[in-house]
Amino acid sequence: MSGRLDGRTVVVTGAGRGQGAAEARLFAEHGARVVLTDVREEEGRAVAGELGDQGLFVTHDVTDAAGWQQVVRAGLDAFGRIDALVNNAALWRTAPIEEETEDNLQRLLRVNLVGPFLGIQAVVPAMRAGGDGGSIVNISSTAGLVGIVGHASYGATKFGLRGLTKSAALDLARHRIRVNSVHPGMVDTPMIAGALGGDVGEREWPNVPLHRAGRPEEVAELVLYLVSDASSYVTGAEFAIDGGLTAQ
Ligand SMILES: NC(=O)c1ccc[n+]([C@@H]2O[C@H](COP(=O)([O-])OP(=O)(O)OC[C@H]3O[C@@H](n4cnc5c(N)ncnc54)[C@H](O)[C@@H]3O)[C@@H](O)[C@H]2O)c1
Repeated sequence: MSGRLDGRTVVVTGAGRGQGAAEARLFAEHGARVVLTDVREEEGRAVAGELGDQGLFVTHDVTDAAGWQQVVRAGLDAFGRIDALVNNAALWRTAPIEEETEDNLQRLLRVNLVGPFLGIQAVVPAMRAGGDGGSIVNISSTAGLVGIVGHASYGATKFGLRGLTKSAALDLARHRIRVNSVHPGMVDTPMIAGALGGDVGEREWPNVPLHRAGRPEEVAELVLYLVSDASSYVTGAEFAIDGGLTAQ
Protein backbone atom coordinates (compact mmCIF):
# COMPACT_ATOMS: atom_id res chain seq x y z
CA MET A 1 0.00 0.00 0.00
CA SER A 2 1.37 3.41 -0.82
CA GLY A 3 0.90 5.78 2.11
CA ARG A 4 0.28 9.50 2.16
CA LEU A 5 3.53 10.04 4.10
CA ASP A 6 5.85 7.58 2.35
CA GLY A 7 9.47 8.75 2.65
CA ARG A 8 8.60 11.48 5.16
CA THR A 9 9.90 11.98 8.67
CA VAL A 10 7.61 13.66 11.19
CA VAL A 11 8.48 14.88 14.69
CA VAL A 12 5.58 14.67 17.17
CA THR A 13 5.94 16.19 20.66
CA GLY A 14 3.95 14.82 23.57
CA ALA A 15 3.60 11.52 21.70
CA GLY A 16 3.55 9.29 24.77
CA ARG A 17 -0.22 9.31 25.07
CA GLY A 18 -3.42 11.01 23.93
CA GLN A 19 -3.56 12.81 20.60
CA GLY A 20 0.21 12.74 20.03
CA ALA A 21 0.26 8.94 20.30
CA ALA A 22 -2.72 8.66 17.92
CA GLU A 23 -0.96 10.91 15.42
CA ALA A 24 2.29 8.93 15.60
CA ARG A 25 0.39 5.68 14.95
CA LEU A 26 -1.62 7.10 12.03
CA PHE A 27 1.43 8.71 10.41
CA ALA A 28 3.33 5.41 10.61
CA GLU A 29 0.35 3.61 9.03
CA HIS A 30 0.71 6.07 6.17
CA GLY A 31 4.39 5.25 5.70
CA ALA A 32 6.09 7.96 7.78
CA ARG A 33 9.08 7.58 10.04
CA VAL A 34 8.18 9.23 13.31
CA VAL A 35 10.37 10.88 15.94
CA LEU A 36 8.29 10.75 19.12
CA THR A 37 9.20 12.97 22.05
CA ASP A 38 7.78 13.33 25.54
CA VAL A 39 8.78 13.83 29.16
CA ARG A 40 6.92 10.55 29.85
CA GLU A 41 9.73 8.20 28.94
CA GLU A 42 8.03 4.87 29.54
CA GLU A 43 4.85 5.73 27.63
CA GLY A 44 6.82 7.33 24.79
CA ARG A 45 9.08 4.31 24.38
CA ALA A 46 6.07 1.99 24.36
CA VAL A 47 4.32 3.91 21.56
CA ALA A 48 7.55 4.15 19.54
CA GLY A 49 8.03 0.40 20.05
CA GLU A 50 4.66 -0.26 18.37
CA LEU A 51 5.97 1.46 15.24
CA GLY A 52 9.02 -0.82 14.89
CA ASP A 53 11.69 0.59 12.55
CA GLN A 54 9.46 3.55 11.76
CA GLY A 55 9.52 4.92 15.33
CA LEU A 56 12.25 6.61 17.35
CA PHE A 57 11.66 7.92 20.86
CA VAL A 58 13.70 10.79 22.32
CA THR A 59 13.13 11.93 25.90
CA HIS A 60 12.68 15.67 25.68
CA ASP A 61 11.05 18.54 27.51
CA VAL A 62 9.84 20.99 24.85
CA THR A 63 11.07 23.94 26.93
CA ASP A 64 14.68 22.74 26.59
CA ALA A 65 16.27 24.56 23.63
CA ALA A 66 19.47 22.49 23.63
CA GLY A 67 17.35 19.35 23.79
CA TRP A 68 15.59 20.43 20.59
CA GLN A 69 18.93 20.28 18.77
CA GLN A 70 19.36 16.71 20.02
CA VAL A 71 15.86 15.78 18.79
CA VAL A 72 16.64 17.10 15.31
CA ARG A 73 20.07 15.45 15.28
CA ALA A 74 18.59 12.10 16.37
CA GLY A 75 15.92 12.34 13.64
CA LEU A 76 18.48 13.15 10.95
CA ASP A 77 20.83 10.40 12.11
CA ALA A 78 18.08 7.78 12.14
CA PHE A 79 15.99 8.80 9.13
CA GLY A 80 18.07 11.29 7.10
CA ARG A 81 15.52 14.10 6.89
CA ILE A 82 12.81 16.02 8.74
CA ASP A 83 9.70 16.97 6.79
CA ALA A 84 7.15 17.87 9.43
CA LEU A 85 6.72 18.89 13.06
CA VAL A 86 3.60 18.57 15.17
CA ASN A 87 3.84 20.82 18.23
CA ASN A 88 1.36 18.81 20.28
CA ALA A 89 2.76 18.67 23.85
CA ALA A 90 1.01 20.95 26.32
CA LEU A 91 -0.22 21.39 29.87
CA TRP A 92 -3.80 22.20 30.77
CA ARG A 93 -5.16 23.73 33.95
CA THR A 94 -8.13 25.85 34.84
CA ALA A 95 -8.48 28.53 37.49
CA PRO A 96 -10.51 31.72 37.75
CA ILE A 97 -8.35 34.74 36.86
CA GLU A 98 -8.51 36.09 40.44
CA GLU A 99 -7.02 32.84 41.78
CA GLU A 100 -4.48 32.12 39.05
CA THR A 101 -0.83 32.71 39.94
CA GLU A 102 1.89 34.25 37.83
CA ASP A 103 3.97 31.09 38.33
CA ASN A 104 1.25 28.97 36.77
CA LEU A 105 0.87 31.35 33.86
CA GLN A 106 4.65 31.31 33.28
CA ARG A 107 4.74 27.50 33.43
CA LEU A 108 1.98 27.17 30.84
CA LEU A 109 3.56 29.81 28.63
CA ARG A 110 6.88 27.95 28.70
CA VAL A 111 5.42 24.60 27.70
CA ASN A 112 2.52 25.63 25.44
CA LEU A 113 4.04 28.61 23.62
CA VAL A 114 7.81 28.86 24.11
CA GLY A 115 8.13 25.09 23.45
CA PRO A 116 6.51 25.29 19.98
CA PHE A 117 8.52 28.46 19.21
CA LEU A 118 11.77 26.61 19.99
CA GLY A 119 10.57 23.61 17.99
CA ILE A 120 9.94 25.69 14.88
CA GLN A 121 13.36 27.32 15.17
CA ALA A 122 15.00 23.91 15.60
CA VAL A 123 13.42 22.08 12.65
CA VAL A 124 13.49 24.81 9.99
CA PRO A 125 17.22 24.41 9.10
CA ALA A 126 16.71 20.65 8.60
CA MET A 127 13.58 21.22 6.51
CA ARG A 128 15.39 23.77 4.37
CA ALA A 129 18.35 21.43 3.93
CA GLY A 130 15.94 18.70 2.79
CA GLY A 131 14.95 20.97 -0.09
CA ASP A 132 11.35 19.81 -0.22
CA GLY A 133 9.56 22.39 1.94
CA GLY A 134 7.88 21.23 5.12
CA SER A 135 4.78 21.31 7.29
CA ILE A 136 4.44 22.49 10.89
CA VAL A 137 1.21 21.90 12.76
CA ASN A 138 0.62 23.69 16.06
CA ILE A 139 -2.01 22.10 18.28
CA SER A 140 -3.88 24.98 19.86
CA SER A 141 -7.42 24.65 21.26
CA THR A 142 -10.89 26.13 21.05
CA ALA A 143 -9.48 28.14 23.97
CA GLY A 144 -7.26 29.75 21.31
CA LEU A 145 -10.33 30.85 19.33
CA VAL A 146 -12.77 32.05 22.00
CA GLY A 147 -12.72 32.90 25.68
CA ILE A 148 -13.63 30.05 28.05
CA VAL A 149 -14.44 30.42 31.74
CA GLY A 150 -11.44 29.59 33.94
CA HIS A 151 -9.02 29.45 31.00
CA ALA A 152 -7.13 32.74 31.37
CA SER A 153 -3.65 31.16 31.46
CA TYR A 154 -4.28 28.26 29.09
CA GLY A 155 -6.25 30.46 26.69
CA ALA A 156 -3.47 33.05 26.66
CA THR A 157 -0.98 30.36 25.61
CA LYS A 158 -3.29 28.93 22.95
CA PHE A 159 -4.22 32.35 21.48
CA GLY A 160 -0.48 33.04 21.44
CA LEU A 161 0.18 29.81 19.56
CA ARG A 162 -2.41 30.80 16.96
CA GLY A 163 -0.63 34.14 16.47
CA LEU A 164 2.78 32.47 16.32
CA THR A 165 1.37 30.16 13.63
CA LYS A 166 0.26 32.95 11.34
CA SER A 167 3.47 34.99 11.58
CA ALA A 168 5.68 31.91 11.19
CA ALA A 169 3.60 30.89 8.13
CA LEU A 170 4.43 34.23 6.51
CA ASP A 171 8.12 34.09 7.42
CA LEU A 172 8.54 30.53 6.16
CA ALA A 173 6.37 30.59 3.02
CA ARG A 174 9.40 31.48 0.90
CA HIS A 175 10.96 28.16 1.93
CA ARG A 176 7.71 26.28 1.11
CA ILE A 177 7.33 25.47 4.81
CA ARG A 178 3.64 25.61 5.72
CA VAL A 179 2.45 26.39 9.27
CA ASN A 180 -1.12 25.84 10.45
CA SER A 181 -2.98 25.59 13.75
CA VAL A 182 -5.50 22.99 14.91
CA HIS A 183 -8.10 23.86 17.54
CA PRO A 184 -9.60 20.80 19.21
CA GLY A 185 -12.65 21.05 21.43
CA MET A 186 -13.16 18.41 24.09
CA VAL A 187 -11.14 15.31 23.14
CA ASP A 188 -11.19 12.10 25.14
CA THR A 189 -7.59 11.90 26.42
CA PRO A 190 -5.89 11.64 29.82
CA MET A 191 -5.43 15.44 29.79
CA ILE A 192 -9.07 16.10 30.62
CA ALA A 193 -10.15 12.70 31.95
CA GLY A 194 -8.74 13.54 35.38
CA ALA A 195 -10.82 16.68 35.70
CA LEU A 196 -13.98 15.60 33.86
CA GLY A 197 -14.10 11.89 34.72
CA GLY A 198 -12.85 8.82 32.88
CA ASP A 199 -16.07 8.47 30.86
CA VAL A 200 -15.65 11.68 28.82
CA GLY A 201 -15.95 9.65 25.61
CA GLU A 202 -19.13 7.83 26.62
CA ARG A 203 -21.07 10.74 28.06
CA GLU A 204 -23.56 12.94 26.19
CA TRP A 205 -22.38 16.60 26.05
CA PRO A 206 -25.48 18.73 25.32
CA ASN A 207 -23.46 21.95 24.81
CA VAL A 208 -21.57 20.34 21.90
CA PRO A 209 -23.67 20.38 18.68
CA LEU A 210 -22.55 16.82 17.85
CA HIS A 211 -23.39 15.90 21.47
CA ARG A 212 -20.19 14.02 22.16
CA ALA A 213 -16.49 14.44 22.87
CA GLY A 214 -13.99 13.90 20.06
CA ARG A 215 -11.61 10.96 19.79
CA PRO A 216 -7.84 11.41 19.46
CA GLU A 217 -7.97 9.42 16.20
CA GLU A 218 -10.34 12.01 14.71
CA VAL A 219 -7.89 14.83 15.45
CA ALA A 220 -5.07 12.70 14.04
CA GLU A 221 -6.90 12.50 10.67
CA LEU A 222 -6.99 16.30 10.43
CA VAL A 223 -3.33 16.58 11.39
CA LEU A 224 -2.46 13.91 8.79
CA TYR A 225 -4.14 16.07 6.15
CA LEU A 226 -2.08 19.10 7.24
CA VAL A 227 1.19 17.17 7.36
CA SER A 228 0.64 15.56 3.95
CA ASP A 229 0.76 17.03 0.44
CA ALA A 230 -3.05 16.93 0.36
CA SER A 231 -2.88 20.36 2.05
CA SER A 232 -0.13 21.75 -0.22
CA TYR A 233 -1.88 25.15 -0.68
CA VAL A 234 -2.86 25.55 2.99
CA THR A 235 -0.76 27.76 5.25
CA GLY A 236 -1.38 30.27 8.04
CA ALA A 237 -4.83 28.76 8.53
CA GLU A 238 -6.72 27.62 11.64
CA PHE A 239 -8.86 24.49 11.86
CA ALA A 240 -11.47 23.98 14.57
CA ILE A 241 -12.22 20.31 15.30
CA ASP A 242 -14.77 20.66 18.06
CA GLY A 243 -18.07 19.04 17.12
CA GLY A 244 -19.45 22.48 16.24
CA LEU A 245 -18.73 24.07 19.63
CA THR A 246 -17.31 27.34 18.31
CA ALA A 247 -19.81 27.56 15.43
CA GLN A 248 -22.52 28.53 17.90
N1 LIG B 1 -7.90 16.79 25.28
C1 LIG B 1 -8.55 17.90 25.02
O1 LIG B 1 -9.75 18.04 25.31
C2 LIG B 1 -7.87 19.04 24.31
C3 LIG B 1 -8.66 20.12 23.89
C4 LIG B 1 -8.07 21.17 23.20
C5 LIG B 1 -6.71 21.13 22.93
N2 LIG B 1 -5.96 20.08 23.36
C6 LIG B 1 -4.54 20.11 23.03
O2 LIG B 1 -4.21 18.92 22.34
C7 LIG B 1 -2.82 18.60 22.56
C8 LIG B 1 -2.68 17.17 23.01
O3 LIG B 1 -3.32 17.01 24.26
P1 LIG B 1 -3.88 15.63 24.80
O4 LIG B 1 -5.32 15.82 25.00
O5 LIG B 1 -3.41 14.50 23.96
O6 LIG B 1 -3.16 15.65 26.24
P2 LIG B 1 -2.34 14.56 27.08
O7 LIG B 1 -2.08 15.20 28.39
O8 LIG B 1 -3.04 13.27 27.04
O9 LIG B 1 -0.98 14.44 26.25
C9 LIG B 1 -0.05 15.48 26.27
C10 LIG B 1 1.36 14.89 26.28
O10 LIG B 1 2.28 16.00 26.33
C11 LIG B 1 3.33 15.64 27.20
N3 LIG B 1 3.97 16.83 27.75
C12 LIG B 1 3.49 17.70 28.67
N4 LIG B 1 4.41 18.62 28.96
C13 LIG B 1 5.49 18.36 28.19
C14 LIG B 1 6.76 18.96 28.03
N5 LIG B 1 7.13 20.04 28.74
N6 LIG B 1 7.63 18.43 27.14
C15 LIG B 1 7.29 17.33 26.44
N7 LIG B 1 6.11 16.69 26.56
C16 LIG B 1 5.23 17.21 27.42
C17 LIG B 1 2.65 14.84 28.29
O11 LIG B 1 3.60 14.04 29.02
C18 LIG B 1 1.64 14.02 27.50
O12 LIG B 1 2.16 12.78 27.11
C19 LIG B 1 -2.35 19.65 23.58
O13 LIG B 1 -1.69 20.69 22.90
C20 LIG B 1 -3.61 20.14 24.21
O14 LIG B 1 -3.48 21.43 24.77
C21 LIG B 1 -6.50 19.03 24.04
